[in-house]
Amino acid sequence: MSTSDRFLAAALAFDREESPSQAELARGIALDPTALAVLDRAEEARRQPVLVLAVCRWLGAPLGPWSALRPWLLARSDDVVAELARRLTQTNDVRRCAPLSVALARVPGPVALLEVGASAGLCLMVDRYGYRSGDRRWGDPSSPVQLALDVHSPSGGRAPKTPELPTGPLPEVVWRAGIDLDPVDVRDRDQVAWLETLLPPERGDRLELLGRAVALARTAPPRLVGADAVDGLAALAAEAPADATLVVVSTGTLVYLPGRRRQAFVDEVGRLGARWISYERRDLLTDVVAEVPPGARPDDAFAALALDGQALGVGDAHGTRLHLTA
Ligand SMILES: C[S@@+](CC[C@H](N)C(=O)[O-])C[C@H]1O[C@@H](n2cnc3c(N)ncnc32)[C@H](O)[C@@H]1O
Repeated sequence: MSTSDRFLAAALAFDREESPSQAELARGIALDPTALAVLDRAEEARRQPVLVLAVCRWLGAPLGPWSALRPWLLARSDDVVAELARRLTQTNDVRRCAPLSVALARVPGPVALLEVGASAGLCLMVDRYGYRSGDRRWGDPSSPVQLALDVHSPSGGRAPKTPELPTGPLPEVVWRAGIDLDPVDVRDRDQVAWLETLLPPERGDRLELLGRAVALARTAPPRLVGADAVDGLAALAAEAPADATLVVVSTGTLVYLPGRRRQAFVDEVGRLGARWISYERRDLLTDVVAEVPPGARPDDAFAALALDGQALGVGDAHGTRLHLTA
């Protein structure tokens, strides 16, 4: 896909995510050969629209419109290309914990939780949040982080009382740790500011949710190791207590691994004999085959929720809507 096509596709996604300012900027870049030539100086993996716009904001770019960003981008092109080489897309979206919690509830505790691509480790705190779908509640009802999940049951209708949804607390998590190429320390204001910059500027609700999750994480910061998801997995897994069930988690991360490395990751999880919960783009993994239930909109079938490679359902990119199939 050309850089222009990536930005055109991103513009549609920004529209759907209620970020019109980013949609306008993405369209501006997509149709501007001079701006595209600047971005094409960065490595292909770093030309990601979310990353590019966040890097511009981080370096002090005007928030919009494109007619204001364009001269800034051309004047600061060297800085933008250099910063793109230093940064990764690290959006830590706690809302993905909602589908994650549905799968985790099916694993008998106690659990040792190991997340790859953990960013700041906010999804490692899945058991410390509360969840609701209609009248159904699970997780920690007293948590400052409460997440809503719109669930469609396997029988087709909206049935929050469906037996596939958890009730009560999640399995006890007795150990948790994460791996990331560039772990984000929740105690470091600058590092948290990068997470904030990755959010759409109009989405104060997401900023507020992030703030609440970070505040909770600061009370017991999760252990994070700087390593590659494949190369670092076995060493960190070896530290998990033997009397707990090791559960490896990947959400919105494997897309950043080259194709061969994705399969290497899946093979490594198999070698460890670990349980594996994934919430990844639906078409990404050959081992995870998720059917799209009739009536599910394309946006609601963006990701597949799977336990040990067996699909449990499909959902949106952020974990707010879930069509359970098992
Ligand atoms: C989009 S974030 C997702 C964070 C979190 N899992 C979530 O869903 O909120 C992807 C994370 O994966 C990390 N990452 C990318 N490639 C990686 C690799 N090969 N090994 C470990 N981490 C990686 C990035 O640094 C980033 O923090």
